[in-house]
Amino acid sequence: MSATSASIIGTPTPRIDGPLKTTGAAEYASDFHFERMAYAVALGAPIAGGRIRKLDTSAAEQMPGVLLVLHHENIGTLYRTVPNDDDAVSSEVRATFEDEIVRHWGQHVAVVIAESFEQATAAAAAVQVEYEPQPANLRESLDDYTGKRKSVSKRGDPDKAFATAPVKIDATYVTPIETHNPIEMHASVAVWEGENLTLYETTQGVVNHRVVMAQILGIPLENVRVVTRFLGSGFGGKLFPWPHTAMTAVAARKLDRPVKLSLNRRQMFCAVGHRPRTEQHMQLGATREGKLLSLRQDYLNSTSLLDDFDEGCGEATPYLYSVANLEVTSALVRRNFGTPTPMRGPGAVPGLFALESAMNELADELKIDPVQLRLLNDAAKDESNNLPFSSRHLRECFETGAKKFGWDRRTAGIGSMRRDGKILGWGMAGASWVALRLPCTATVEFCANGRLCVRCATQDIGTGTYTIFAQVLHEKTGVPLDRIDVILGDSALPDGPMSGGSLTTGSVVYAVANGAENAIKRLQQLATSTAGSPYQDAELETIAYTAGRVHKKDEPPGDGAHFADLLAMARLSGLSAEGKSQATWEDPKSKGFSLHSYGAQFVEVEWEPEIARLRASRVVTVIDAGRIINPRAAANQIAGAVVMGVGMGLLEETVHDPRTGQPINGSLADYMMATCADVPEIDVTFLDYPDPVMGEFGARGVGEIGLAGVAPAITAAVYHATGVRVRELPVRIERLLQSQILLA
Ligand code: MOS
Repeated sequence: MSATSASIIGTPTPRIDGPLKTTGAAEYASDFHFERMAYAVALGAPIAGGRIRKLDTSAAEQMPGVLLVLHHENIGTLYRTVPNDDDAVSSEVRATFEDEIVRHWGQHVAVVIAESFEQATAAAAAVQVEYEPQPANLRESLDDYTGKRKSVSKRGDPDKAFATAPVKIDATYVTPIETHNPIEMHASVAVWEGENLTLYETTQGVVNHRVVMAQILGIPLENVRVVTRFLGSGFGGKLFPWPHTAMTAVAARKLDRPVKLSLNRRQMFCAVGHRPRTEQHMQLGATREGKLLSLRQDYLNSTSLLDDFDEGCGEATPYLYSVANLEVTSALVRRNFGTPTPMRGPGAVPGLFALESAMNELADELKIDPVQLRLLNDAAKDESNNLPFSSRHLRECFETGAKKFGWDRRTAGIGSMRRDGKILGWGMAGASWVALRLPCTATVEFCANGRLCVRCATQDIGTGTYTIFAQVLHEKTGVPLDRIDVILGDSALPDGPMSGGSLTTGSVVYAVANGAENAIKRLQQLATSTAGSPYQDAELETIAYTAGRVHKKDEPPGDGAHFADLLAMARLSGLSAEGKSQATWEDPKSKGFSLHSYGAQFVEVEWEPEIARLRASRVVTVIDAGRIINPRAAANQIAGAVVMGVGMGLLEETVHDPRTGQPINGSLADYMMATCADVPEIDVTFLDYPDPVMGEFGARGVGEIGLAGVAPAITAAVYHATGVRVRELPVRIERLLQSQILLA
């Protein structure tokens, strides 16, 4: 790279894996095919609670092509994972087919393996299962909960302060069960070679997946390898292994053949997690001038019978605003549904729906502009733990967003804004999301073929991780992007982080940069120690490296020796070095800081009362997520998250049949998500302040924060347009029919 060219860090960069995806060459889990491969199809329970009385597989076993039927009586021993071990996180505590108890509709009760997918499908329908149904709790609302609550965060005396506060907001906000719908289905392909198992998976964490599967199968860790070269996204649903992986692995071992299992969309609605329902009781007390005096958030979330999944709705509440008296409490409410799992922006996103909705109601109550109310309550430090913020520009998010949106043209009256025969509603909300650096190791190798290679057992879930690796390497080594090979998605590589929590970029960049620096050092040493090298016996201090060449500090870089030539002289196939990122909570430079990203969402809705038509028409989103490494991929992440926010606000909800517990809208035809027709005009702005605590590039990573704050901004805009206060998502047209605002 010449001294005058701009840094690639911060330059919009097309995905290096784009051509592989657009040509179909990228291999996803179910694309892997092997000789003699058999096909597995899982059978789900048609009841929400009870037990299997009798399971008769004889008819299925007689059917053409059927090789094996596995169920709780013949699966053999499968183990649970070690509880509370962050390095071995499974989605469900129960091992696959562990018992004959049915705890939710669609729970796998058997799996049929056959020569073809069609044969396995037909035979799965022929498995005769007799159930003994038992009462199941399918109640949608959680408001019957009377048990204990856990205090998550507390300071001051919020109840006393609330009792005497001049202005109060006291309301409950509800978010429904939502289902992850990545394009790529969950799938496992299991291949045994002797005692060694390779799993071609679609997982957001190959390292964790490997540990979990070794524990569940009870085999040595070194015998398991997990490969996920590409993912058609996951949104959290693929963070941790689900029961179908173990079935596939056991079937492949018993048959001594490769086995493939792919869930279908309907199974994805019941067997691989969801965002749980939340009910959040909020109490805000404030002065007449709008200063917060007290804040209380008591939330409930649904979970399954066996698993303690806490949605963590109090994630952002304790630090977002300055308030002396605060408490967040939580409790889990058990239902006969499948086990919940993180879904994009877990915790903070539903939590911010409640907090930011309550802030908007407070602004309306006080007749203060909602932007002003937030600026008035900005926090100078994290009041939950007294730590300084590493880098917080929330005020600037609000101010920049207001300016870009044209917020000063907003008239406060309900239904007071019109355009082209439609009523306009304008609403806004704040956003926040956690930032961390997870431990990561990456090796960087100068190769004899003149290429540079980086290896790391993280994965690209579709967000642009391959490209981030290449950008950092190019920045550090000057080797052109098309001579850089990024190898990810294989647990055999050096340990890398999960692709989750928008934490990957901020975690990997430092390891890659560090690995490149170490590799350059080794190359310089090689140049001074290799017979025939122009720099043989030169002092290391006199040697420099520029754009793939080692040279003397006082000579033009172009006159230096290319690494491929140096490797040839030394008769080496390559020279590699390791780079590491340290976890932020272990690094003395970062562990004393409160690390978060921030944002502001401004939303316009159009309301046509005559035909009851509501649309989100315009969104301005301003994101403070540290330095943005690849603005092109990052803007894509944020815009995609905003679209998901439109879905959360207006469309998404998994509805269960109250008699059977079956998700009755469990298909892409029935489950409403925002589609192209629902996409508003979206303006994404990054403030791009490097976070000094996150390391060299100051990147915190993006993704989930684009979803945070969208839903409460939508409901505020809906209120502004219609006068209808929606506290339960999604906004339903039938609720809006109560609006008294008419165009005429
Ligand atoms: Mo995200 S819910 O951590 O994939």
